[in-house]
Amino acid sequence: MADPDVDLEARLAEQDSFEPPADFVEQANVTDPDIYDEFETNWPDCWTQAADLLDWDTEYTEILDDSNPPFYEWFADGELNASANCLDRHLDERGDEAAIEWVGEPTDEANRTYTYQELHDEVNAFAAALRAQGVEEDDIVTLYMPMIPELPIAMLACARIGAPHSVVFAGFSADALATRMNSADSEHLVTCDGYYRRGDPLNHFEKATEGLADVDHDTDTIVVNRLPDDDGFDHDLSGHDTYADLVAAHDGEMVDPVSRSAEDMLFLMYTSGTTGQPKGVKHTTGGYLSWASWTSHAVLDIKPEDTYFCAADIGWITGHSYIVYGPLALGTTTMMYEGTPDYPDRHRLWEIIEEYEANQLYTAPTAIRSFMKWGTEYPDANDLSSLRLLGTVGEPINPRAWKWYYKHIGDESCPIVDTWWQTETGGMMLTTLPAIGEMKPGSAGPPLPGVSADIVDVRGSPVGAGEAGYLVVNKPWPGMLRTLYNNDDRFINEYWREYSQVDSNDSADWVYFPEDGAKLDEDGYFTVLGRVDDVLNVSGHRLGTMEIESAIVGVEGVAEAAVVGGDHEIKGEAVYAYVITEDGYEEDEELRERVIEGVEDAIGPIARPEKVVFTPELPKTRSGKIMRRLLENIANDDELGDTSTLRNPEIVDDIQTAAGGDD
Ligand code: WTA
Repeated sequence: MADPDVDLEARLAEQDSFEPPADFVEQANVTDPDIYDEFETNWPDCWTQAADLLDWDTEYTEILDDSNPPFYEWFADGELNASANCLDRHLDERGDEAAIEWVGEPTDEANRTYTYQELHDEVNAFAAALRAQGVEEDDIVTLYMPMIPELPIAMLACARIGAPHSVVFAGFSADALATRMNSADSEHLVTCDGYYRRGDPLNHFEKATEGLADVDHDTDTIVVNRLPDDDGFDHDLSGHDTYADLVAAHDGEMVDPVSRSAEDMLFLMYTSGTTGQPKGVKHTTGGYLSWASWTSHAVLDIKPEDTYFCAADIGWITGHSYIVYGPLALGTTTMMYEGTPDYPDRHRLWEIIEEYEANQLYTAPTAIRSFMKWGTEYPDANDLSSLRLLGTVGEPINPRAWKWYYKHIGDESCPIVDTWWQTETGGMMLTTLPAIGEMKPGSAGPPLPGVSADIVDVRGSPVGAGEAGYLVVNKPWPGMLRTLYNNDDRFINEYWREYSQVDSNDSADWVYFPEDGAKLDEDGYFTVLGRVDDVLNVSGHRLGTMEIESAIVGVEGVAEAAVVGGDHEIKGEAVYAYVITEDGYEEDEELRERVIEGVEDAIGPIARPEKVVFTPELPKTRSGKIMRRLLENIANDDELGDTSTLRNPEIVDDIQTAAGGDD
């Protein structure tokens, strides 16, 4: 007799489109396919549907002000407060329901539940404390914290008093913290003593202190004690307040949420770009929060009674929009997990889903590829039947990983939303609506209703179905970044100059360029191919090659460096560094180690080079530009293609030998 499982695998392998599961459709938030036409016809008025998910202190009268492109404004004369939208308005009906379910990494430590009432009260106390520390409206507060509840509490406390936050991913280095605090002129820092990673406590405070030493203005620091007193670290907290003391001192105080203009900054989020300097992406209160809420409702199908699990880190945009702001604005229960999915063993993530009966799982393809590699025995051993919807974000998902996720995690009964978006877009842009669109593994899907995207060639003309080109967005949307902090010129140059008529005041002449390549099929589905600028996507994390290169050339003994992305089975891309040594330095293990350390110190372990290749020269074009394509080909053992435009073609063999040499 045929093995039904083998049949199933074979069928799945051949199937290239999937209908939304009927049970899901029956209960979904958005089910009417006319929404696409309706939004197109009513654009931009359609976006009241997003804004109406929020409570406004002052109703807006104008939806879009496009008189000064690309500085678009949304709902500009409306006023609201993000923390009131995420907390206060839920208290009557959901005060006793869980807002945050937090799971720490150690299994022998108690998990924490914050009801909406408890979260509200602690946010108020901390908001009062921040005020008492001298934080004023519009001051930028840096939050350098891992996945502990005090991070979203601090974000909401900042939002409550109208102080924009700038969260710096805890895995980033001291240098990266200092760069961001200096760039944002941020005088306030909230950080913590440490946290757990694979069973060991990490000394986070030491990194924060090192970073502060390089901040060029006075700062105030508040420290959260996450670790037990006997953590083994000798922290000198003198001169700093602790979070616990402050919250105790302000316990019971209520802080009226400040009415913010819709266009007031809610937060800054630094992200990597083409140059060595990270860019401070500015998001606003009205447009961003509408976008995060609307997409959480329409795409993630979040309902207040759900327990929703996004396995990202709040230090990245995914966590901002889809752990904190979107889910809490909708009044649902959002999960936070501190640790890695394989600690203490590979059951951990699935055990959490089973225990909390999570309804949605939103994660990155890199994680799914790891799960796949570990094998089905782990998800199979746990009850995942609470799951209703699965999502992916951060990088292209290969069809095999998609199908594995669909079958082994979703039991073929959960739709998968493959959501393409960026730090700059604030929230999702391309994805199927889970109860409406047929799913095609590997393809994100059409633009959301009301979003207008296309694929063009270098001159900006649309390319035909099936042809690769550059992804562009033709119309503004409420969640879009408003500018780069203190740098309107760079904002225009990075995102608009390529395909817009920049001297035009007509919004129709302005086109947003996300710097991704993509192709389109006959049904209008977009398959995103990846970055076309010098930005790598390592495990779903954005890293600028220039940032890594400048870290490497800062290492003693290095004369020049070039960094490219090589294919990697789990990470998607991995960092490959080609290094030329200075005269008098050996190409040895010691220097290789120092190069790796240099990158970890400047950025963090996420940017650690997979491979460091010493080479006497870099391949350069006649005009002196490094030919990265060639270095990528070498990293991937690919055909080298045309090398005739090189000034130094003879170097290619040497580099190939060096690259192969240290396997
Ligand atoms: C990539 C993360 C393919 C893309 C939310 C984009 C994706 C960059 C997808 C943004 C997807 C994100 N399919 N590629 N579903 N989602 N990307 O700013 O290259 O950290 O430009 O935002 O990730 O990364 P960022």
